[in-house]
Amino acid sequence: MDKLVSLCKRRGYIFQSSEIYGGLNGCWDYGPLGVELLRNVKESWWRAMTYREDIEGIDAAILMHPRVWEASGHVANFTDPMVDCRECKARFRADQIEDAPCGNPGYKGRKASKCQAEGKFTEPRQFNLMFKTFIGPVEDSSGVVYLRPETAQGIFVNFLNVQSSSRQKLPFGIAQVGKAFRNEINTKNFLFRTREFEQMEMQFFVKPGTDVEWFEYWKAERMKWFADFGMSRGKLRFSPHAPDKLAHYAKAAFDIEYEFPFGWGEIEGIHNRTDYDLSRHEQYSGKSMKYFDEQTKERFTPYIIETSAGASRSFMAFLVDAYREEEAPTADGKTEMRVVLRLHPRLAPITAAVFPLVNRDGMPEISRKIEAMIRPHFRVFYDDSGAVGRRYRRQDEAGTPWCFTVDSQTLQDQTVTVRDRDSMRQERIAIDAIVGYLRDKLAA
Ligand code: GAP
Repeated sequence: MDKLVSLCKRRGYIFQSSEIYGGLNGCWDYGPLGVELLRNVKESWWRAMTYREDIEGIDAAILMHPRVWEASGHVANFTDPMVDCRECKARFRADQIEDAPCGNPGYKGRKASKCQAEGKFTEPRQFNLMFKTFIGPVEDSSGVVYLRPETAQGIFVNFLNVQSSSRQKLPFGIAQVGKAFRNEINTKNFLFRTREFEQMEMQFFVKPGTDVEWFEYWKAERMKWFADFGMSRGKLRFSPHAPDKLAHYAKAAFDIEYEFPFGWGEIEGIHNRTDYDLSRHEQYSGKSMKYFDEQTKERFTPYIIETSAGASRSFMAFLVDAYREEEAPTADGKTEMRVVLRLHPRLAPITAAVFPLVNRDGMPEISRKIEAMIRPHFRVFYDDSGAVGRRYRRQDEAGTPWCFTVDSQTLQDQTVTVRDRDSMRQERIAIDAIVGYLRDKLAA
């Protein structure tokens, strides 16, 4: 993880939020390469989920009516037990003390559980994880609103709006990608548990009785999505929630977990939420949330199968999975270590790089023309500084799948070399064929 975190900063994937002021705990900024990778993760999810007949997309507001969070159960139940150390004032989640280090930097290597055993901790108090703010100029209880802790509620409250405007029939789904906020007591493991993050959620509305089969369908689809985008199968697994650990709304739940360097961690949850959410919103809003089936003339509350992935956690899992340190040949026949991100080409922040072998004989001019030819279609990077081997290394670290080099042969036959990031093999192709080459490779 340390190597990955330092690569992320050095190459502009992730920066600490407000770094010049010492940072803000649990918040991170995506740099030039990071924002492209994150957008590609979200775009690939969006395409997989909404470019089909039975799913519509929405983009709901982050601020919602405060009654939404009463109906959802978040005001009453979205809490973690918190304890404080009376000595060093560090704050812990009461259920996560086991693994936590002591908060006093003077006691290096000491476990928080030791301080607890010595009676230094307060009694646990319930702490609500929703960030509160006020709407309008008066900061009193009548203006309280929350930053959404999940995007799902924006989908539930719009169920009938979407269904009637898009004339969808059950079963169908609604997908959304957006920011969520949780005032986590302990943030940890880089992007894994942060206070501001993005979710990619889809709620699939089904007729009660068909929910078990749709649950199985979405479990398989979502696992396949991670594998299709190159994540190692052996580092992915399902983890079922035991019946006594199920969330209050769920009939069944599985997490998709990835094996990070710090252990297995959830990247997506798949839940059978039954009719809990729509029933609660019906009860709290006084508006019917029922679906009318034209064929059977039945009116009923649909069940919901939820797929809820973290965009930020998926981003980190894709990065961790792609990171390799490998031996690579040098120009003088020796070998050196290279760091390479073997990202799926559709996720890679830059699709192609263009290099003139040397900065003379018209090579930069041809290279610039090739760059201009690629730019309307794909993210492309032009680099003419340093030895070509160093330029390859820089693109390996950025995860760029293909590098095109203009050399002396180009001047004669209008061909360039294309070097493949993973195999490091090179072949020659005609300049005119470059855009088609990239298109075919990405489609493959
Ligand atoms: N609507 C259901 C829901 O929000 P969740 O398991 O609390 O379920 C879903 O969250 C996903 O959101 C998780 O699998 C994870 O990827 C992501 N997530 C949750 N809390 C997070 C946090 N503090 N930081 C980063 N990602 C988080």
